[in-house]
Amino acid sequence: ALISLRQLLDHAAEHDYGVPAFNVNNLEQIQAIMEAAEDTKSPVILQASAGARKYAGESYLRHMVLAAIESHPDIPVVLHQDHGGSPAVCQMSIRSGFSSVMMDGSLEEDMKTPSSYDYNVRVTRTVCEMSHAIGVSVEGELGCLGSLETGEAGEEDGVGAAGKLSHDMLLTDPDQARDFVEQTGVDALAIAIGTSHGAYKFTRKPSGDILAIDRIAQIHARIPDTHLVMHGSSSVPQEWLEIIRQYGGDIKETYGVPVEEIQRGIRNGVRKVNIDTDIRLAMTGAMRELFAKQPSEFDPRKAFAVARQAARDICKVRLLSADFARLG
Ligand code: G3H
Ligand code: 13P
Ligand code: NA
Ligand code: ZN
Repeated sequence: ALISLRQLLDHAAEHDYGVPAFNVNNLEQIQAIMEAAEDTKSPVILQASAGARKYAGESYLRHMVLAAIESHPDIPVVLHQDHGGSPAVCQMSIRSGFSSVMMDGSLEEDMKTPSSYDYNVRVTRTVCEMSHAIGVSVEGELGCLGSLETGEAGEEDGVGAAGKLSHDMLLTDPDQARDFVEQTGVDALAIAIGTSHGAYKFTRKPSGDILAIDRIAQIHARIPDTHLVMHGSSSVPQEWLEIIRQYGGDIKETYGVPVEEIQRGIRNGVRKVNIDTDIRLAMTGAMRELFAKQPSEFDPRKAFAVARQAARDICKVRLLSADFARLG
């Protein structure tokens, strides 16, 4: 059944767990996530970016998610729009049946230029007004995702600021977060604590100076009823990097957000944990290995099947590690 983000995260807050939000673009990713949810008896958040809509097409995406809900009637599903660049984009997703939207007003509509605070408040409030009237949840973002090591957003082509970001922009201010929530009414708030999108987050295993988990508790204390969202939360498994390299891929040394840090984040108030890159790495590693070991294979289903299985396995691990209620 399709439920709203607010419904799901209120339950998560009450029972002290977090929910991974997985990015979806195609059939195999959606199937992998639903199977992982079935195996772990978890609710799931499926999120689609503008890039996903461009890749799959709005209608295919919508019907694939409907098929997922039909095939797994007992799994609560949130269909969330990731990084909406404008109220118009959010409105389109609501019309497509999304139960939750992100208005990312931390950047201008180009998704590259950091915006003013007033702009962020204005567009986010607009989206809250139109969404809440019909039971759709809203996630906002305050602060810019980016590396505290380099000041860069990381994603050259996708979602993320171009050029250097100041230290101020890279860490969400707790007092400003409180004002932002009061002025907009968002259900969930994405915060900047040093994570960034993509595979290249940290040049070393992160410590407190480059991954500000402690800031989460400070923000949570000011806005206890707003669900905090950690973007750029892929752990970038070294095992998958090695498999990709072993079978011809070229990925430089890099580190993601360790699972223990995500768990610390959840203990400090994070409820939604965004994961895309880990699924990409697992699927790519599995497909490279398959084709390298079976060079005569040309049925793409063989590659898609191992990719789907690798995605399912990593989603299962992420679902289980985010759920303290289940772990007891
Ligand atoms: O926000 C970034 C997500 O990983 C989505 O990436 O824009 O390439 O679909 P994308
Ligand atoms: P990763 O690139 O770390 O998977 O982050 C995904 C994300 O934040 C989507 O909004
Ligand atoms: Na999002
Ligand atoms: Zn994100």
